[in-house]
Amino acid sequence: MSDSKFAPRVFSGIQPSGGLTLGNYLGALKKFVTMQNDGIEAIYCMVDLHAITVWQDPEDLRKNTRELAAFFIASGLDPQKSILFNQSQVPEHAQLGWVFNTVARMGWLNRMTQFKDKAGKNKEKVSVGLFSYPTLMAADILLYHATHVPVGDDQKQHLELTRDIAIKFNHDYKVDFFPVIEPVIEGPATRVMSLRDGSKKMSKSDPSDLSRINMSDDADMIAKKLRKAKTDPDALPSEAAGLNDRPEAKNLVSIYAALAETSVDAVLSDVGGKQFSEFKPMLVDLAVEKLSPISGEMSRLMEDTAEIDRVLAQGATRARAIASPILDKTYDIMGLVRS
Ligand code: TYM
Repeated sequence: MSDSKFAPRVFSGIQPSGGLTLGNYLGALKKFVTMQNDGIEAIYCMVDLHAITVWQDPEDLRKNTRELAAFFIASGLDPQKSILFNQSQVPEHAQLGWVFNTVARMGWLNRMTQFKDKAGKNKEKVSVGLFSYPTLMAADILLYHATHVPVGDDQKQHLELTRDIAIKFNHDYKVDFFPVIEPVIEGPATRVMSLRDGSKKMSKSDPSDLSRINMSDDADMIAKKLRKAKTDPDALPSEAAGLNDRPEAKNLVSIYAALAETSVDAVLSDVGGKQFSEFKPMLVDLAVEKLSPISGEMSRLMEDTAEIDRVLAQGATRARAIASPILDKTYDIMGLVRS
């Protein structure tokens, strides 16, 4: 951050809308764990108010929220070190979200590609919340004066909007109150692609289950999906540049690099020249070694939902203690009253 007024603080969120994938793990959670271990103060949120911008069955939402909390903890997030909580338990998110609906411009939201993708041809029938989604996302982040936001590449445009909202608010009210955040979109797997089509993002909404690795998949399923993953007939190159125009090969090597916590170039210097018939078993072994303990631990944690609820309630109390004075000050700057 260029503005030293704001202490470094990390914020990120994941929707509890079910179907967690390897994309969520490599693009987001794995980075959260690394940042936690670097000792930066971090706040992580199950963004259930975002999830309801499309229909959620109430019982599924309750279950998916707990499952997401279990995923955070099973992946290595320590709820004593980081703050882990559920968005709807901290009402300040919705309050600041409304404020930012009055700051953001229609034209800014009209440009959001994720809205266009999600609404498709159905623009008139989707919820208003789906359209104004990015203002709530800006509120999530700025409510904590967070400075750094680790996400996958698909969230980049939303984070640019968060910057624009902070700048406009500060400018309109002649204050230096909200930080202009830094997106953290780094590492070999900022965009994990479908295992069936290297031009499409790995997503829980893809109709083919073979296109993705779900965090709930067991070792056999992980192995099966990776063995069936689409490839091309050529041997692997020795340098990253050789993966240009080979999207499926690039995806599998990037997944390997992210799981092995190394770079694509380092992987290729070992496996360059090998055929996929040799590389895929290496990838299967690594993926099973790294991922199956997480799904095992998630199932174990889900046996004690009362404990998960306790962790989330405690996280919400800690989150509110930071959020509430920031919202007080926001209201005060704007001439509103918060009793
Ligand atoms: P969501 O729930 O769709 O995804 C959660 C995180 O996973 C990342 N991700 C991926 N990364 C790489 N490759 C993929 N195939 C892949 N699929 C998903 C996403 O980039 C994201 O980091 N709008 C957000 C949630 C949100 C949020 C926030 C994030 C709400 N408020 C505040 C950060 C800060 C979303 O829908 O993520």
